[in-house]
Amino acid sequence: MAEVLFFSYTGTSKKVAESVAGRLNLETREISPKFQLPYPAWLLLSFIPNLGVPVKKVEVACERVILCFPKWTFNCPPVTAIIRAGLLKGRRVFLIITYGGWRGEQYLNGYVKMLERNGAKVEGTRLVRRSEVQAVLSDDGFFRELERFLG
Ligand SMILES: Cc1cc2nc3c(=O)[nH]c(=O)nc-3n(C[C@H](O)[C@H](O)[C@H](O)COP(=O)(O)O)c2cc1C
Repeated sequence: MAEVLFFSYTGTSKKVAESVAGRLNLETREISPKFQLPYPAWLLLSFIPNLGVPVKKVEVACERVILCFPKWTFNCPPVTAIIRAGLLKGRRVFLIITYGGWRGEQYLNGYVKMLERNGAKVEGTRLVRRSEVQAVLSDDGFFRELERFLG
């Protein structure tokens, strides 16, 4: 089957991940950095492309993974860490990125490439503006797309 893997700093991606999982009856798994850093430190690291940070061990058991996390400038180091460690190698991925509204496409495309370079197959994507979370979560078209991904 499938599972929902997410990282969230301020709760938006967590909300999306948990709502999607609840509606599709899937388990969630959280990516947690080993060290909690203050916002200015994360902001600084988010400018460094391809940088990972140590994360707590997280199991990915299913072939299909809905991966949800925020746009952070150029890089979200906890997520980059698990992708570069090969955790999603051989998995089929539906990528959901939440963002404030600034240059989401470019970031999403960058992560599609990173996932594919690291052995994952990206079968669907969705950008979710923070201000449109409710609308997306009540969009039947979005859930039909996710159901098609689940097969
Ligand atoms: C370090 C950092 C960098 C961010 N950079 C961007 C950005 O470049 N563009 C954007 O639209 N939003 C940016 N945001 C806003 C988040 O993408 C947005 O609030 C997201 O929904 C937060 O998800 P979360 O609550 O799951 O952490 C940034 C937030 C943080 C903390």
